Amino acid sequence: MATLLDGKALAQKVRAQLKTKVDKHKVTTGRVPGLAVVLVGEDPASQVYVRMKNKACEEAGYKSIVNRMPDSTTTEQLLAVVNEYNNDDSINGILVQLPLPDQINESEVLYAIKPEKDVDGFHPFNVGLMNIGADTLFPCTPYGCMKFFEEYGIDITGKSAVVIGRSNIVGKPMASLLIKANTTVTVCHSKTKDIASVCRQADIIVAAIGRAEYVTADFVKEGAVVIDVGMNRKEDGKLCGDVAFDEVYAKASYITPVPGGVGPMTIAMLLANTMKAFEAAL
Ligand code: GUN
Repeated sequence: MATLLDGKALAQKVRAQLKTKVDKHKVTTGRVPGLAVVLVGEDPASQVYVRMKNKACEEAGYKSIVNRMPDSTTTEQLLAVVNEYNNDDSINGILVQLPLPDQINESEVLYAIKPEKDVDGFHPFNVGLMNIGADTLFPCTPYGCMKFFEEYGIDITGKSAVVIGRSNIVGKPMASLLIKANTTVTVCHSKTKDIASVCRQADIIVAAIGRAEYVTADFVKEGAVVIDVGMNRKEDGKLCGDVAFDEVYAKASYITPVPGGVGPMTIAMLLANTMKAFEAAL
């Protein structure tokens, strides 16, 4: 039986610490961190995420702007908005919610965000810094996953980690942060042969593939640490992760639930990144 990695509680703790910092900065500088979130179109999941990000910012005392743009927005129009925030001293973090509508050139938009305001950590400059092991703004979801090891005193040095998924948002930066933390990392993806047998060697499994309950007990070595980045909806409408929770719970030493695991940490780390960008700009 595993110990639950409680993302809801850890995220609350991080957010409370940030709120205390905001209060201090307000007194000493008269300023607070500012985050601008841009949402293009009507994607239902994105709307929920953006609302949650906005609420978390307001609760921690941040300045929070949500800019909702129509589905028909052009790359040029979006670039103009990004530039406006690039030049606004009250905005320390800019987040363009993904996915973007097809007509928009996603990389052009992400590369236009000033690296020092890139609180998603998606700009190639920040990706490069992360990959050479430097300190910078790290992508929020993998960064949130790393926080669990620290909080629960899980020593990962020299351990073998398997990341399932190679996206730029989660899989690749996750691998990079795990290497930086001295684990030995294997990245599996849709073309990998026999993912289950690769996972069975792992002390740590991070599942980020977007397939409901893909990681079953036969993927998991007794005592492994299992981090579930998935957020899927089953046929019956219930939320579930990429891990078959009940059967893996019986085998793992630590496991994140869905919901209440990685999800809340992503938002907490977005606030942490915005604080970092704010403090760097003071
Ligand atoms: N869409 C899904 N996850 C993310 C994220 O971490 N950042 C942004 N900008 N969009 C997302």
